[in-house]
Amino acid sequence: MTTRRALTLTSLKGEDNLEIRHVPIPDVGDNDVLINVKFCGLNFAECSLRQGLYSPIPPLPTVPGYECSGVIGQIGSQVTDLKVGDRVVGLKNFGAWSDVVVLPSSDCNVIPDNMSLEDAAAIPVNYLTSYLMLFDQAALKPGDKVFVHMAAGGVGTAVGQLCLTVPDVTVIGTASKAKHKHCLANGIHHPIDYKSLDFVEETRKLFPKGVDIMLDPVGGPTSKKSHTLLRSLGKHIHYGGSSYISGANKTWTSMFSIMWNFFNSGSYSGFGLMERSVLVGGLHVGKMMQDPEYHPVTRRAMTNLLNMYKEEKIKPHIDSVWHFEQIKEAMGRIYSGQNVGKVILNASVMSDKGTQATKK
Ligand SMILES: NC(=O)c1ccc[n+]([C@@H]2O[C@H](COP(=O)([O-])OP(=O)(O)OC[C@H]3O[C@@H](n4cnc5c(N)ncnc54)[C@H](OP(=O)(O)O)[C@@H]3O)[C@@H](O)[C@H]2O)c1
Repeated sequence: MTTRRALTLTSLKGEDNLEIRHVPIPDVGDNDVLINVKFCGLNFAECSLRQGLYSPIPPLPTVPGYECSGVIGQIGSQVTDLKVGDRVVGLKNFGAWSDVVVLPSSDCNVIPDNMSLEDAAAIPVNYLTSYLMLFDQAALKPGDKVFVHMAAGGVGTAVGQLCLTVPDVTVIGTASKAKHKHCLANGIHHPIDYKSLDFVEETRKLFPKGVDIMLDPVGGPTSKKSHTLLRSLGKHIHYGGSSYISGANKTWTSMFSIMWNFFNSGSYSGFGLMERSVLVGGLHVGKMMQDPEYHPVTRRAMTNLLNMYKEEKIKPHIDSVWHFEQIKEAMGRIYSGQNVGKVILNASVMSDKGTQATKK
């Protein structure tokens, strides 16, 4: 039987709960394609999943991963729009961290000639999240003031670049001081060092009335404060809970921190929202991926994003590339907040155990 190498989550405890396993290659259905994977994306979500701080958690052992890029090696009998040899990007509801992936052809897009396979793996989660929040949910329009937390991360970088495609949009974002140069180069006009300054005060100095769109992946008291920055007709979109994650391991202290952040994240009453004429919403691309009803939505957004890349309007910033064998180090970069942009996994076998990640 032919097998594939899959980076597998074996438990939700400890630091060594991800291992490479050799598992059977699934059958290729009539409407499926088989991708020989070159690169996969690593996200905050998988770092949370590893600690059991993600919902939903699939039965273990499981292969994480939402996105991969590679070359089609086989197509199902009913597939007409893709062919063997096409360079593609694929979206998957878990299971993308493998050197061979089988998925429905409708969850797969051919990438433009000018796109590298590394860049392709960096597009789906970060850019779909940003695209759907900005264009589908918040209806971004010329002149809007947009605020994004974690501005130097993969999603923050995508938000800055996508906002540059709409005239006169101003973006304010939180990031460590050392990452401000990256923010400025990627459409974040006003980076705020949230570690030494109060982001609400700094934003009010720039825009006394507040912002039109608040993009909030932090949760906890930061969410409560962020909400105060919304001006009338503003939209506050929740899409993460980074304040719940503190380091690579779950400890009693981190569990206490999760509870504390959860109970201090604020709440909204319908009346309160009505009186201020504001909207509150949320987005979870992972959950959308589980429901085929939304696949046409993500497919349309992916097509638009790939066209934007082709026209050189967007370009992911790759922080570093690591082999499956280096997953601990790769995740460490995210846990410690060192990364600037996207962390990528290389699906090929690491030939030299001493090889360092390719830092971009
Ligand atoms: N709902 C969805 O569908 C969806 C999809 C994608 C991502 N997300 C969420 O969006 C957020 C950003 O994701 P991303 O992929 O852009 O992240 P990322 O690339 O890993 O960026 C993380 C950056 O955020 C900052 N940061 C702030 N709080 C942090 C913390 N507690 N731990 C580590 N870093 C922290 C760090 O930069 P500084 O040095 O500036 O602090 C870090 O470099 C996450 O909360 C993620 O779960 C949600």
